[in-house]
Amino acid sequence: MATEIRIEHIADYVGQQVTIKGWLYASTRKGKLLFARLRDGTGMTQGVAFLPDIGEELFETLKRLGQESSLIVTGVVRSNERAPGIPGGYEIAIEAVDVLQNVADYPITPKEHGVDFLMDNRHLWLRSSQQWAIMRVRATIKRAIIDFFDNNGFLNIDTPIITPSAAEGTSTLFEVDYFEEKAYLAQTGQLYNEANIMAFGKVYCFGPTFRAEKSKTRRHLAEFWMVEPEIAFCDLDGLMALEEEFVSYVVQTTLAKRRNELEFLGRDLSKLEAITPPFPRISYDEAVERILAIRAATTDPEQKELLAIEWGDDFGSPHETELTKQFDKPVFVYGYPSQVKAFYMEPWPGRPEVCKSVDLLAPEGYGEIIGGSERMSDPDLLIAAIKRHELPIEHYQWYVDLRQYGSVPHSGFGLGLERTVAWICGTEHIRQTSPFPRTLNRLYP
Ligand code: 4AD
Ligand code: MG
Repeated sequence: MATEIRIEHIADYVGQQVTIKGWLYASTRKGKLLFARLRDGTGMTQGVAFLPDIGEELFETLKRLGQESSLIVTGVVRSNERAPGIPGGYEIAIEAVDVLQNVADYPITPKEHGVDFLMDNRHLWLRSSQQWAIMRVRATIKRAIIDFFDNNGFLNIDTPIITPSAAEGTSTLFEVDYFEEKAYLAQTGQLYNEANIMAFGKVYCFGPTFRAEKSKTRRHLAEFWMVEPEIAFCDLDGLMALEEEFVSYVVQTTLAKRRNELEFLGRDLSKLEAITPPFPRISYDEAVERILAIRAATTDPEQKELLAIEWGDDFGSPHETELTKQFDKPVFVYGYPSQVKAFYMEPWPGRPEVCKSVDLLAPEGYGEIIGGSERMSDPDLLIAAIKRHELPIEHYQWYVDLRQYGSVPHSGFGLGLERTVAWICGTEHIRQTSPFPRTLNRLYP
């Protein structure tokens, strides 16, 4: 009796007769030999059919199978150093095949396709090895994120998705009709987590987040997943220490569990191995100086234009890209001008124009993966900030209450899952890190 196995465990079955349920990824023929690349959702392996062994009829059937035909294959597992696969190095000597559906004209062929065509066929493109590998890495990153916080004393708590008001600026909200009242899809769970920490100390939420930004960059999605820890009795230094431990844990865990997939993606693993604490910390002031120095040194007029910046401006992608090229690890940039950040950030002592914010920028040009800050803990300062940002104070009364009933210094951050997946996988565009991405121009499939 053959044992039914999954390809990711094939190494454990060398010399045994096994059954695999899956799909035909591709096949090639060399005289009396037919090589069928099989995938089953957990990996890819090579099936080898030898005409004299399996007979004319089965060989003919295999020859006529189209890409993505569904089938059940039985055969004996062999080691073969040169056999391609994920994991590579194994193959199955085919003995029997049960065809569930023979497919003709599968739209995605091994030839090159344009990105729009592939995104229109995202429901099928997900089966391609590269997309498959990215989703496997994503699942592992997600699990590592949850494990880190669960193992470090954080309570997982869910924050609402339908919200009455803005938290990160009003320009990026998706509006919802809430029983004839205006409501919005959540941009962040942070404000609710600030209530939660006063009840539970250390919490995190992890869920979908919505931004109606009209950006077409390779870093923006309209729907993305964000993990947001919030910590009572934590200042900016404590926050940075937590972030570097957390990000290093996620990278090293993913590297250990998804080596095959990352290697398949062609990722330079030594770059990921280097991600260990501590991370460099520079102030916004220093970051501006560094960018201006890079700008002064460039002879390319277009680049000079892109890198223009004055103190007080927010960084754009070109600034972040050039800055992160100077470091092998993610770099903290702290103390941004208050005017480019959200209303709730604690002012810098003695410098009210600066706030106790910190962004973490990923290396190799990936840019911001975390935004966070120490939060304002004084009720009067907070009320003044809400008014300065022209936010309706009646929506924020509960948030002010938190500063009136046992206010404590507290901090938190948000890490974008998809940007983190893009960096760890070395993916050029964020849309490939979401199974069904929502972008400015795409709602289908
Ligand atoms: O910097 P952001 O806007 O921070 C917040 O929302 C805070 N309330 C978080 C907190 O302190 N609890 O977003 C945090 C992260 C970014 O660094 C980025 O990784 C990701 O969320 N992000 C996006 N990812 C994909 N597409 C977008 N449009 C994103 N906007 C933010
Ligand atoms: Mg940000």
